[in-house]
Amino acid sequence: MCGIVGYIGQREAKELLLDGLKKLEYRGYDSAGIAVLQRGALQVKRAVGRLENLCAATGDGELSGTVGIGHTRWATHGAPSVENSHPHCNEAGTIAVVHNGIIENHEELKTFLMEKGYRFRSETDTEVIPHLIDFYYQGELLEAVQKAARQMKGSYAVCVMHVQHPEQIVAARKDSPLIVGLGQDENFVASDIPAVLKETRDVYLLEDGEFAVVTANDVNLYDVEKKPIQRSVYHVTFDENAAEKDGYDHFMLKEIFEQPQAIRETLRGCVAPGQPVVFDGVDYQDIAHIREIFIVACGTAYHAGLVGKNVIERLTNIPVDVDIASEFRYRHPIIDKDTLLVVISQSGETADTLAALRLAQRRGCRVLAVTNVVGSTIAREADHVFYTHAGPEIAVASTKAYTTQLIALYGLALFLAEHKGTLSEAECEMVKQEMLQLPELTAQVLESAESLHTLADKFLQENDIFYLGRGLDHAVAMEGSLKLKEISYIHSESYAGGELKHGPIALIEEGTVVIAVSTNERLRGKMESNVKEVVTRGAYVLGILTEGFPESVFDDVFYLPEVNPLFAPVLAILPLQLLSYYIAVGKGCDVDKPRNLAKSVTVE
Ligand code: M6R
Repeated sequence: MCGIVGYIGQREAKELLLDGLKKLEYRGYDSAGIAVLQRGALQVKRAVGRLENLCAATGDGELSGTVGIGHTRWATHGAPSVENSHPHCNEAGTIAVVHNGIIENHEELKTFLMEKGYRFRSETDTEVIPHLIDFYYQGELLEAVQKAARQMKGSYAVCVMHVQHPEQIVAARKDSPLIVGLGQDENFVASDIPAVLKETRDVYLLEDGEFAVVTANDVNLYDVEKKPIQRSVYHVTFDENAAEKDGYDHFMLKEIFEQPQAIRETLRGCVAPGQPVVFDGVDYQDIAHIREIFIVACGTAYHAGLVGKNVIERLTNIPVDVDIASEFRYRHPIIDKDTLLVVISQSGETADTLAALRLAQRRGCRVLAVTNVVGSTIAREADHVFYTHAGPEIAVASTKAYTTQLIALYGLALFLAEHKGTLSEAECEMVKQEMLQLPELTAQVLESAESLHTLADKFLQENDIFYLGRGLDHAVAMEGSLKLKEISYIHSESYAGGELKHGPIALIEEGTVVIAVSTNERLRGKMESNVKEVVTRGAYVLGILTEGFPESVFDDVFYLPEVNPLFAPVLAILPLQLLSYYIAVGKGCDVDKPRNLAKSVTVE
């Protein structure tokens, strides 16, 4: 949700800010803006729509200066418009602010400020910040920002510039990610590491409640009482090119094809030939006492959790509950020190998942995070962290993060099963061997990508597509359906096969498209009956089946290589991801940046 950048140094800020914003556009792309300090005055340029509109609006020679801040917006308060775009300024135009997060008490602050004579030009919550800083400013910028921050409720990462302080940018964070990139005679501020990676690999990761005063030659961190904070430098090791398209038309396609490698890398954190099962980040003794597991996540990560529940219960006999983080945090979950809370989050920054983690810790639970982003807030706050090694996932639609989350959950299940003795040594070894086959098997499925392209062309005109499955296949159907709707805007629902006759079958009519996932021999007959029920009512059915299942009841089939049904989700999701991708491309949709969405959901 929104990306922010800042630069202070010897070089022209404009190009560096725009470059940084390009790397952050996945966080929001409704509008963008930058402010540069030029000859003692703030020059601000903002544009609605994609970043390219802002680039086009900032011609040569404009906004020349070596200090600046920038923003790419995912609109929460106020429609995407120039007035609502950041940076926001005080009335005198001496203070500029970019903000990621939500100021929850903005109405109250606005009333307070209006009573003092401040006038507002936008519908945003953010605009209270420059006015508040203006109100508290008495010659010291950090002090004014800190006083303003004390008044603000909600979440924020902010960068502030003031014309009286051309030598500094002040940044602050609470519940929204923020890093400071360290250069030679120059420094950077950003929401996320990729924004600065071209320029530096050394960063400070700011914690909640911290403030940074960033000058060209120095970075000082403070707490809210202005007490200096010492922080060690975090050296980034991941490859900058991992965040490039590498000749693929879209990040999503590249990321789909990276899955065999991502799975291979993630497997290293739990299983290796001839080695006992481990689970990186967890010492079994720390969790040996747990009686139940709660998995909490959002979106795709939640769908991975549904697979996890099924597999962990089957292999370990430990009861597992799964919940959507935004629900979990507002109900009354029965959890205590004997509960292991597993939070799953690609970004490690999702606001609801983070709130669930904090709630569980307050109740005495141990929290294990499964995340893809090293140093993310969730990774830092959890008691244990297992990193998926998917590499940077840029496309908004999650693909390789999902399959690597599945691997993490299989790894956890096997780790617990081995320690608890719920599987024999021989069974553990067999499961391990099957897991180690997964990179090969995924590569094999992806080789059939072209046939899915042809199939996708049949569905371009559809308004509704239904997904069916039973057991693990139902969890996969849910993820397939999400993938389709988020990037192609085709309405889609997923149902457990046995639920059809309890209502949804009323929607089936002549020509309705149904995609049925059936990978489990034990449930095959039941699923066939469900498919017949929709065929009888005129549906066209595409089957995603394991090799050897008869194709008789289906109009089209896509076969998956034979695999233990426990691991079938890793393979079955691949054709569904590709189908969604090709449908979205066929419909001319912006695959990597679907409308209304953002990659990292750092607001409630
Ligand atoms: O970063 P997270 O895994 O916590 O994100 C959770 C969801 O926002 C995310 O999975 C979302 O549903 C994806 N865009 C779906 O493709």
